[in-house]
Amino acid sequence: MSRDKGESVNVEKLHVAVLAFPFGTHAGPLLNLARRIAVDAHKVTFSFLCTSRTNAALFSGSKDYDEFLPNIKHYDVHDGLPEGYVPSGHPLEPIFIFIKAMPDNYKSVMVKAVAETGKNITCLVTDAFYWFGADLAKEMHAKWVPLWTAGPHSLLTHVFTDLIREKIGSKEVDDTKTVDFLPGFPELHVSDFPEGVIGDIDGPFSTMLHKMGLELPRATAVAINSFSTVHPLIENELNSQFKLLLNVGPFILTTPQRMVSDEHGCLAWLNQCEKFSVVYISFGSRIVPPPHELNALAECLEECGCPFIWVFKGNPEETLPNGFTERTKTKGKFVAWAPQMEILKHSAVGMCLTHSGWNSVLDCIVGGVPMVSRPFFGDQRLNARMLESIWGIGVGVDNGVLTKESTMKALNLIMSTEEGKIMREKILKLKESALKAVERNGTSANNFDTLIKIVTS
Ligand SMILES: *[C@@H]1O[C@H](CO)[C@@H](O)[C@H](O)[C@H]1NC(C)=O
Ligand SMILES: *[C@@H]1O[C@H](CO)[C@@H](O)[C@H](O)[C@H]1NC(C)=O
Repeated sequence: MSRDKGESVNVEKLHVAVLAFPFGTHAGPLLNLARRIAVDAHKVTFSFLCTSRTNAALFSGSKDYDEFLPNIKHYDVHDGLPEGYVPSGHPLEPIFIFIKAMPDNYKSVMVKAVAETGKNITCLVTDAFYWFGADLAKEMHAKWVPLWTAGPHSLLTHVFTDLIREKIGSKEVDDTKTVDFLPGFPELHVSDFPEGVIGDIDGPFSTMLHKMGLELPRATAVAINSFSTVHPLIENELNSQFKLLLNVGPFILTTPQRMVSDEHGCLAWLNQCEKFSVVYISFGSRIVPPPHELNALAECLEECGCPFIWVFKGNPEETLPNGFTERTKTKGKFVAWAPQMEILKHSAVGMCLTHSGWNSVLDCIVGGVPMVSRPFFGDQRLNARMLESIWGIGVGVDNGVLTKESTMKALNLIMSTEEGKIMREKILKLKESALKAVERNGTSANNFDTLIKIVTS
């Protein structure tokens, strides 16, 4: 494309190395962003670097897609695990080992990619976690564009980690303390901070996040899966910390999603439910709440009698109270996997019970569905606080634990009070601004054009 007619850069010489974090839901969004850029910057060469296991998952079944993008090639980086590695059982161990292997595992593969393509790397597009991008880009005389896949407010807490530790101490976990010195965060509690900001600050993950916060201001631009009206105060603050902040989301609206099959017939089932009557329940792809909370939730659903779709890991008949699935079989649907976005867009859905991970929050905004949050870790507590105190589009449960009473109270608030109605109106406004942002000449669309310019000049 001829976006840079006036400049003399030979785009065919440009080479973008994309460095993906292979754990959680990080690599997929980065690959999707790289693909979007590669469609526009079709003369630029892209090398996508991730572990063999994650690459295999990402690129399987996408042959048709990648035939149209011959300018992206993927490379495997070493996962750092020693020969004959026997897992210790600690779920985070492979991540810690991987962090230790960085950045050398990436560097050696970049050398290979440069040799194969005959093109020096001119831009690094990385997961925002990769603090070493700043030095690496400087060494290579390249640009650095990190992508933060979560929300702007959690990013701000990582950028301000030193200030936070200075003001409240690094080990403070007294929840009665409120935090009043961060811009754009009224009613923040100490316990809302994501891991890595305070508490256990010496682990590999915390150290990575800390260094990230310190290095991101050196990036050419920081891209984020958000849209600019989501939180102007925090956006302004990030803007003043970074050279350039580019809201290029929500990705759920900008990126063609892989079709999720509706094998359980959720959408047909929703068609026969009344408007705003259904409770949709999902705690994301990894979290299973403790048994007593699952039981409490089941009791609450049975008492309120509202129809529900529950994305359930495991066998509900074995886990939930005796006879519950039988008694609720006309009212409720248990599914192992669901087309979440399509469900949330359905007018029958009145509420979503969520762990409030950032992607789920964006899905609910785009679906226009108010939330009850039961956060667990990472940025989830912070998101939950924002839903309630900044946007007024959701509510938590008392003490952050699902009991029959606390869940009932939150559910009633959203489903049958004036306050709940106002939440729905507010979230529909946010939805409108999200849709506007990705339209032609919308802020996210224009920011994406800026990103293309950075990569192609
Ligand atoms: C790549 O960079 C090296 C060192 O800066 C330089 O010597 C070489 O000519 C460059 N190669 C190309 C193909 O531009
Ligand atoms: C794009 O949006 C800006 C600001 O909202 C407006 O001033 C401008 O006229 C718009 N341009 C086009 C081509 O629509």
